[in-house]
Amino acid sequence: MTGARRVPRDGRRAPRRRPAPARAAWESLSAEIRACRRCPLGATRTHAVVYRGSLTPEVLFVGEAPGAEEDRQGVPFVGRAGRRLDEAIRFLGLPEGTVGILNVLKCRPPHNRFDRAAARTCRPYLDRQLDLLRPRLIVTLGAHALRTLDPSAPPVLQSAGTLRAGPAGPIFPLIHPAAALRSRRWGERWVHDLTALRTWRAGRAREAL
Ligand code: URA
Repeated sequence: MTGARRVPRDGRRAPRRRPAPARAAWESLSAEIRACRRCPLGATRTHAVVYRGSLTPEVLFVGEAPGAEEDRQGVPFVGRAGRRLDEAIRFLGLPEGTVGILNVLKCRPPHNRFDRAAARTCRPYLDRQLDLLRPRLIVTLGAHALRTLDPSAPPVLQSAGTLRAGPAGPIFPLIHPAAALRSRRWGERWVHDLTALRTWRAGRAREAL
């Protein structure tokens, strides 16, 4: 049965198994990021923050930069915004093995202020991670992640909640989960856009039948 895809009894095709990146290539890239001192953030961080999730993610969430808790633990989105993101992932019905989470910046910037110069230095790491992970969909979280991955996108409040053809594949922009925590208005916008994403995914699943 080499190459044939298993067809379950109800006639639907089983999703194609995605190849995991070569473990050695992933480990070596992650070690390189952890040891990086290419920009001034390398001197002020506690930990470089590489990745959390499956190595064959269907959906990859891309945040902006580690915050205090992420810097302490060396894991992306483990603070309050991370809890909001995990809740969203459950809301979207994405099983654990189908999701990955990373940031544009691998090190915490002082005062949590996104550092564009550092982002340029860090960019090759992000590109190499994307090359190895090859997600089906990228969900950008906040303005900086969107601008980094799709520089020609309209501002985040215009783009959020609608699928875009990004330069390296489909992108679904969202506002940042930390923004969703800031006010009721942004919390409602977050839920609205997540609902749009859930609806879009359900439509795609129906098309695949
Ligand atoms: N905000 C981000 O953009 N990334 C994190 O990892 C945590 C908070």
